[in-house]
Amino acid sequence: MINIDQIKQSFEQDIKAITDVESLKVKYLGRKQGLLTLAFKELVNLDQAQRQKLGPLLNSLKKEIENAILNLEKQSASSSEKADLTVPPISEMTGMLHPLSKTQKDLEDIFLSLGFTVENGPEIESDYNNFVALNFPDDHPARDMQDTFYIKGPETKDPHKKLVMRTHTSPVQVRFMKTHKPPFAIIVPGTVYRNEATDVTHEYTLTQLEGLVVGEDVNFANMVWTLDYVLKKYFGSDIKTKILPTYFPFVEPGAELAMSSPRFKDGKWVEMLGCGMVHQNVFKHAGYQTGKYQGFAFGFGTMRFPLMKHGIPDIRLLHENNLQFLSQF
Ligand code: PHE
Repeated sequence: MINIDQIKQSFEQDIKAITDVESLKVKYLGRKQGLLTLAFKELVNLDQAQRQKLGPLLNSLKKEIENAILNLEKQSASSSEKADLTVPPISEMTGMLHPLSKTQKDLEDIFLSLGFTVENGPEIESDYNNFVALNFPDDHPARDMQDTFYIKGPETKDPHKKLVMRTHTSPVQVRFMKTHKPPFAIIVPGTVYRNEATDVTHEYTLTQLEGLVVGEDVNFANMVWTLDYVLKKYFGSDIKTKILPTYFPFVEPGAELAMSSPRFKDGKWVEMLGCGMVHQNVFKHAGYQTGKYQGFAFGFGTMRFPLMKHGIPDIRLLHENNLQFLSQF
């Protein structure tokens, strides 16, 4: 016997305690066992009078239930679009600069603020640009196979043809001076190669930053001021710097700048860079009239900068590409 009222009441009960719209739909409208579907099937067995009486009632109950379910479905679709503010955010892994790129960028910004421009040069260089034009005597130890990676090629004595992996960024001085007249102030960031065993403080692939300032009245004091300014900008104004004499073939006098701060290496003096007044022989190789110009040059390894600033114990960590290490900076 079809009991329309019973189906109606049961639906009203269920909708009050609803947890899942889909199972409600199956229970009443399901194609095989739905309570309404079954009622419609039963209708066929009834006599005409009863069919005419119950048919329209059943139809209107079906419409009512379908509408109620449709509404519930709409509601649940729109509520799932609302943001749940209590869900913790998914932290996205965004890209970041490698500490060496960051150091280079920071140093470039400091030099750019002083009016320097940034220049570049190739990592494979002629023996001439890397050594001869920089006034390296033929028997200088840095020319030894010990320190220099030579590029295999036809046997030649011509230093313009003999190729090396550049051992410093200084050959870019030569390239730049061949095509530019003073005054100018440039820096040259770049990678250099030394045939050395690696340990906590040594790498054979190094990043350097070179500087060259040339004009008619550039002097040693300009150099000391500039380098002191740059280091204070990078490390903080509490550091102290001092200049010590040293030898590089391409500068005369040559110097080394050391830095000290209680924050680094227990306040001990740390060698930071090489520098000096450009040797007149270097100007001669560049094609400048000797005696006309004065200039200062400096060059330093940029890997030491983040090592000291962040207290990184091993230089090799900078080339290992370990994301856990790198993402701290
Ligand atoms: N080219 C030197 C080096 O690699 C550094 C330097 C550059 C020193 C310029 C003096 C002047 O060690």
